[in-house]
Amino acid sequence: MDGDDGDADYDELVIHCRRLVCNSATRDLPTQSEFLQNRLRWSTRSYMAGTPSSPVQMIADQGKWLMNRTGRMQRPLASKEALQMNPNQALWEKGDFTRIAEGMRESGETLVETLGITKGLKVLDLGCGDGTTALPLAKRGADVLGVDIARNLVEAGNKRAKDQRLINCRFQEGDASNLHELEDHAFDLVVSMFGAMFAPKPFDVAKEMVRVTRPGGRIVMGNWIPGDPTLVAQILKISSSYSPPPPEGFISPMMWGVDSNVIERFEGAGIPKERISLVRDTYIFNLAGPPSELVNIFRKYYGPTMNAFEAAEKNDRAGDLQGELEVLFNSHNKSPSKDATSIPATFLRVTVRA
Ligand SMILES: C[S@@+](CC[C@H](N)C(=O)[O-])C[C@H]1O[C@@H](n2cnc3c(N)ncnc32)[C@H](O)[C@@H]1O
Repeated sequence: MDGDDGDADYDELVIHCRRLVCNSATRDLPTQSEFLQNRLRWSTRSYMAGTPSSPVQMIADQGKWLMNRTGRMQRPLASKEALQMNPNQALWEKGDFTRIAEGMRESGETLVETLGITKGLKVLDLGCGDGTTALPLAKRGADVLGVDIARNLVEAGNKRAKDQRLINCRFQEGDASNLHELEDHAFDLVVSMFGAMFAPKPFDVAKEMVRVTRPGGRIVMGNWIPGDPTLVAQILKISSSYSPPPPEGFISPMMWGVDSNVIERFEGAGIPKERISLVRDTYIFNLAGPPSELVNIFRKYYGPTMNAFEAAEKNDRAGDLQGELEVLFNSHNKSPSKDATSIPATFLRVTVRA
C-alpha cells in the first residue's frame, strides 16, 4: 500500500463527506494520517457485510459523514448506535422474549378483560414486548400504542398486529425512563405488565407514566415481588445468585414489587397515596411440553437467565443452575400431565388514578 493510494482514498473520502449533510450528534472521523495508519485495520472490520471495494467505500457505507467547523471529519452518532450502548436495551434484545410470551397469552387476555376497555380508549402499553396485552386491548376497540426498548420486540409486535389486522394497534421503540416522544396527558390508560419495572431510574419512570396519562385516567402496572416464593421472583433470584454483582448504584427492578417503593415513586410524581391501589394477582405460564422444556426456553431466550447461564458456564456451574431451575419449575407445575406445564406466578398489581 503506497502513499499515493492512501491520498487518493482519503481525497475520495473527503469528497464523499462533503456531499453529505447531517443534523445529528457527531463523532470524530480520523485525520488523514490516522486514516492512513488505520486503513488496513478498518478494512477488516467484522461488522461490515461482504468485502468493501476500498476502505473509503467501506467507511462511506457505514453512514453519513460531514466535515465539522474545525475541518475534522465527523460522522453522525445515530440514535440506533446510541441505543446499542444502552445495557437495558442490550439485555432485552439479547434474547427473544416472544418465546416466553407465547406461554403468557392466556393471562394477558384475562388481565385485559378486567380493565373495562371501551372503544376508542387511548391506551399506552409500556414495555409491551410483542403485544401480550396490547393486542387484546386493541381487539376490544382501544386505540393502542405499544412502546418497548427492544427493537426485535417492536418488530414482532407490529407483525402480530398486522397479521391480526389490528390497525388500531402499533408499536414503537422507546424508553420508559424517558418518553420524550409522547405528549403530556395523551392516554386514558397506561398499562405496563412486567415492563416499566425493568427500566432504569424508577422515579423518572413513575413521572413519565403520570405525565402521559390524562388527569382522571389510570395507570395499571404488574410487578414481580422480591422474595415471593412463586415462579418469576424465584427465577430472578436464582439467576442473580449465579450472575456477577450488578454495577454500583444499580436499583433492582424487583423494588417495584415493594408496596412502600411504589407509593414513594408515585408520590414523587405527584400522586397521593389514596389514589394508589396495591393487590396481589396471578399470571400463568403455559407450555405444551414438560417443565424442563420451559427451563430450556428461559435459558435460550430470556435475557436475565441467559446472562446467568453465561456467568455460570465460566465457573463450570451451568449444570447446577439448570438443576436448580428444573427443581423450581417441576415443583411449581400445576398441570395434571407431566408432559405439560402450567405454572402460576404472583405479582403486585398496581392501579393509580392520575
Ligand atoms: C418481561 S418482558 C414483558 C413484556 C410484556 N409486557 C408482556 O407482558 O409480555 C419485559 C419487557 O420490558 C421491556 N423493557 C425493558 N426495559 C425497558 C425500558 N427501559 N423501556 C421500555 N421497555 C423496556 C423489555 O424489552 C421487555 O419487552
